Amino acid sequence: MITLSALQQRLPPDLAARLRSIRLLDGVATLVADASGLDRASAEALEARLEQAVAAADGTVREVRVALMAERAPAPAAPRIVAVGSGKGGVGKSTLTANLAVALARAGRRVGVVDADIHGPSQPTLLGTQDSRPTADGQQLIPVESAFGVAMLSIGQMVPAGKAVAWRGAMVGKALGQMMEARWAGTELLLVDLPPGTGDVQLTMLQRFRPAGAVVVSTPQDLALIDATRAIDLFRQVGVPVIGLVENMAGYLCPHCGGLSDPFGSGGAEAAAQALDVPFLGRVPLAMEIRAASDAGRPPAAGDGAQGQAFAAIAARLSEWLDGAPQPAG
Ligand SMILES: Nc1ncnc2c1ncn2[C@@H]1O[C@H](COP(=O)(O)OP(=O)(O)O)[C@@H](O)[C@H]1O
Ligand SMILES: [Mg+2]
Repeated sequence: MITLSALQQRLPPDLAARLRSIRLLDGVATLVADASGLDRASAEALEARLEQAVAAADGTVREVRVALMAERAPAPAAPRIVAVGSGKGGVGKSTLTANLAVALARAGRRVGVVDADIHGPSQPTLLGTQDSRPTADGQQLIPVESAFGVAMLSIGQMVPAGKAVAWRGAMVGKALGQMMEARWAGTELLLVDLPPGTGDVQLTMLQRFRPAGAVVVSTPQDLALIDATRAIDLFRQVGVPVIGLVENMAGYLCPHCGGLSDPFGSGGAEAAAQALDVPFLGRVPLAMEIRAASDAGRPPAAGDGAQGQAFAAIAARLSEWLDGAPQPAG
């Protein structure tokens, strides 16, 4: 009667290495072989070669059954979450989120965007996905692909236009959960566009989904910076590391005369970052081009112009942080 070790000695080494067990009962040989890492065609070839080898090795065998087992591919780790917050609206938080995502995707990262801003969901416009609705697989949402290599889901895609803000807390919480637990397999980083300020949605997001870190956006004026300070405090209170502060609308480049002026002042955010002991990630100028391209669903970060480079530089700082930050356990 054939034994495992006897058979393994007679097999070519690649087959022997894959054979795990053999059992012979009433002329039926049952083999278990490991097909980990083989594609379908190679697995079928392995099966056929094993059948032949066993039939040839023992004349009493009239039937060979091969069971192939494969180590399951490791489940993709849940994406790391980075929240983008601001103390108040209108400072360019959504614009920054979309452009950071596009810049990181261009740098080779697999990035998704979740638009959790119930007051003004704008990612569908920014990423040019207004005409798409997410589909679902059973209960799980499937994110919408943008044309920029960034998948996205927006609370604006889940409710009739303008209705989100009237939602009750429980409904908002449920929609957030559906977006965060959508099919993000293969996505390594989720950027979450938070509503401005420090309300319920922010707390739910921070406590339930525990972002790895947060980016805070501010314009250079004192008032905006006071609000940004509050946002930073909130992140700190819930134990979410502040990756850094971004100054948006810093310096206005006049398209007519080429002169640079500072309608909101400049450098305020950098000074505030220093005072608050958070890293300064960079600044984006106030530029007509950014507004126009953003409204048209063409993120400047998708191009190589000066504005695209401003976003790419900030994305590079974020990348450094991601590479240096501790990975989530398990
Ligand atoms: N650096 C910039 N230059 C010019 N316009 C900008 C810039 N950043 C944002 N905007 C414009 O300002 C408005 C508010 O930006 P948005 O990203 O929606 O802010 P928030 O999400 O903080 O409310 C939008 O019309 C956007 O196109
Ligand atoms: Mg916004």
